[in-house]
Amino acid sequence: MTGNIRPETMERITNKTLAEAFITKQIEEIREQVGDKKVLLALSGGVDSSVVAALLIKAIGRQLVCVHVNHGLMRKGESENVIEVFRNGLDANLVYVDATDRFLGKLENVFDPEQKRKIIGAEFINVFDEEAAKLDGISFLAQGTIYPDILESVKQAEGKKAVKSHHNVGGLPEDMEMQLVEPIKLLFKDEVRVVGEALGLPRNMVYRQPFPGPGLGVRCLGAITRDRLHALREADAILREEFDLNGLAEKVWQYFVVVPDMKSVGVKDDSRYEGWPAIIRAVNTTDAMTATIEEIPYSVLHKVTARITSEVDGINRVLYDITPKPTGTIEFE
Ligand code: XMP
Repeated sequence: MTGNIRPETMERITNKTLAEAFITKQIEEIREQVGDKKVLLALSGGVDSSVVAALLIKAIGRQLVCVHVNHGLMRKGESENVIEVFRNGLDANLVYVDATDRFLGKLENVFDPEQKRKIIGAEFINVFDEEAAKLDGISFLAQGTIYPDILESVKQAEGKKAVKSHHNVGGLPEDMEMQLVEPIKLLFKDEVRVVGEALGLPRNMVYRQPFPGPGLGVRCLGAITRDRLHALREADAILREEFDLNGLAEKVWQYFVVVPDMKSVGVKDDSRYEGWPAIIRAVNTTDAMTATIEEIPYSVLHKVTARITSEVDGINRVLYDITPKPTGTIEFE
């Protein structure tokens, strides 16, 4: 497809000046493409959709309608952050949909990881479709497609088999009859981050670690329950806080907590205390095909363990996964 191939002459965006030149050019092109029409964007809060949103807001302001679907599987504070940055900070035309009950309802008693991914992906499309139908006069759909996505779809078209279906909840209805606006489709991830910084997005958004589309849904192992999901979200927030405090956050590629559907016997206040384990995973990789584990200092592990077991209801042990990929995949499901 024309326009989907990065020209060899295209300079790599490595600094603010180059990013600003890119932004100026994109603003012009977006205005030319869109005119006075409205554009719709599914804003997950991930790096790519956030950069596209900020770029489009600069180009066409409130002609951009952002829809943020909270599927109830976001990390602690994430949806609130999207609202803060975009609605309060950038005056975005933002529709916030709390679809927690819908997603968790559909996921009740579903154990199989691929089934969970399918349900989350399909429900996202349903919710997004419904929101789009409520809006008038939308002519364009913006997407945070980046160059590796284009390269990946070429590989898939060549029939390479994937280990997991890797549902990305940004995946949108195929039958939507709208023209696409994809302003960062020729950029690599590091370039998207440089552009994001030049657009003034907060560092924690621009350097956010990768987070799977199905979110905490594939880290609350087996059939998701609200109490275990809550424990996972709180434990994960503690891990992230301690990584920030100890300078690990920008050093480690991906780090998170997993909570399996398994209880063990423990003791608290001199009484028997059955609880789930929180499993810590911290990995480094360049392409996510293989990964090594980060050697978290014991002092940090002790602190995280003390905090999780005392602050999070329902968790009585902390385990540390030291399995590289292979044989472990990065996520557990
Ligand atoms: P695995 O677990 O396959 O993960 O070693 C490799 C990378 O992909 C992410 N991942 C996903 N991303 N939808 C996504 O958008 C998914 O369903 C999904 N599953 C895994 C994972 O977090 C890691 O960065």
